[in-house]
Amino acid sequence: MSTHESRSGLRPISVGNLSEELPSHGYPLEMVEIVEAANGQHITVRPILPLDAAKFQAFVRNLSDASRSNRFLHNLKELPGQMLQRLTRIDYRTHMALVAEILREGMPVIIAEARYACDPESGSAELAVAVADDWQGLGLAKALIRRLIGHAASAGFGRLTGETWAGNAPVLHLAREAEFSIRPVPGASGVFRLTRNIAPHPDLSQQQALTAAE
Ligand SMILES: CC(C)(COP(=O)(O)OP(=O)(O)OC[C@H]1O[C@@H](n2cnc3c(N)ncnc32)[C@H](O)[C@@H]1OP(=O)(O)O)[C@@H](O)C(=O)NCCC(=O)NCCS
Repeated sequence: MSTHESRSGLRPISVGNLSEELPSHGYPLEMVEIVEAANGQHITVRPILPLDAAKFQAFVRNLSDASRSNRFLHNLKELPGQMLQRLTRIDYRTHMALVAEILREGMPVIIAEARYACDPESGSAELAVAVADDWQGLGLAKALIRRLIGHAASAGFGRLTGETWAGNAPVLHLAREAEFSIRPVPGASGVFRLTRNIAPHPDLSQQQALTAAE
């Protein structure tokens, strides 16, 4: 567990019997985790599911205008139907998304999202993250991104990239801490490009070395 996670109290608990409710085929069950936040609240961290569409739309709608604009780099109030489908129906390999979920009055509510999707042009994985305004500053983004970087490495990606407004201090801080390089995007005033090379997963490099040797 990282220092920040222990500081912010993201203590892994257990998966419990959640696995009984999830599809087994292709779903990375090993990424389902229940953690305890500093305020004692239990948070489920798990890959997104198609049946999360309504909850994910509610999460996006409930972000402040500033957070929504920072996440999507557009002034949208909610996600158009096709985009909602695309963001919740993923293959967990070329497109991976984690959500953090709590129970509010017995109902599950998504409070954070982090994802990467393969950019077919560059072959790198494009990262995006958002945390509900009331839950910001508690280490959630950092915890989700750390998990995504590990998963991207296992999936064989060599690089994670992202884009942010130049004035987005929290994400620039987060990016610097996670060892992303930060550069202005030529021709796109006020937008920064974030890039981080990922060391291949040890098992994968061994496998690739064996394949190359054949
Ligand atoms: C950027 C964002 C995802 C950070 O999420 P978060 O859960 O609050 O971040 P964390 O709590 O994990 O904090 C990570 C680091 O950023 C720092 N940070 C958080 N909020 C900050 C702020 N408002 N100003 C400066 N630094 C900040 C934290 O102190 C922490 O640094 P530390 O480890 O040195 O203490 C969140 O602010 C957000 O959802 N913003 C709107 C969407 C967005 O901007 N997405 C990014 C573009 S895709």
